[in-house]
Amino acid sequence: MYEAKTFSIPELDGISKKSIDEHLGLYQGYVKNFNAISSALPEYAKDSEKNAHALSELIRRRSFEFGGMRLHEYYFEQFEGGAKELNPESALAKQFEKEYKKAEHVQPYIKAIGNMRGPGWAILYWDAYGQQLLAGFSGEQHIGHFVTLPIVLALDVWEHTYLLDYGAQGKGKYIDAFFKNLNWGLIEDRFAKLSSWKPAA
Ligand SMILES: [Fe+2]
Repeated sequence: MYEAKTFSIPELDGISKKSIDEHLGLYQGYVKNFNAISSALPEYAKDSEKNAHALSELIRRRSFEFGGMRLHEYYFEQFEGGAKELNPESALAKQFEKEYKKAEHVQPYIKAIGNMRGPGWAILYWDAYGQQLLAGFSGEQHIGHFVTLPIVLALDVWEHTYLLDYGAQGKGKYIDAFFKNLNWGLIEDRFAKLSSWKPAA
């Protein structure tokens, strides 16, 4: 069983408190649903033949709920501590330069991924085996991940992130606001921890 985390989110520029509060409510729903399905599964599993259809739906639903829970935890904590620019001396900035020539090229790239159609997440992962960052799009929140890769940055681009503040066509403006409020220091710390582990040769 999981408990919904609380986040210390300062006032944001371009993302209203009402939007964040409603969004936190959705996050809490994912935690609640994950727990409810987890509690129900053993009973259904007692007669897995009779409950085959229900079990299959619950198993699929559970990873959806888990994705919603965990990704929102990565998402909200990225605002904690307030906006902070990327430190050009950080290991993450150096990695960006190595892969993208300039660290400034990363943000438009992630924004372009975020602007893809459909509900989902633009995510930056770290592959310790390939020693490279991989940017991708997870449809909804449980589909399209680079399996096993840990997350460096998670950008929620479901409609609920921008409808309230910017309307149905406001995804681009919302993504700009997301980056304006992002605490890059936290992203740098995540990357420093992840990149400190190297697979055996
Ligand atoms: Fe969300």
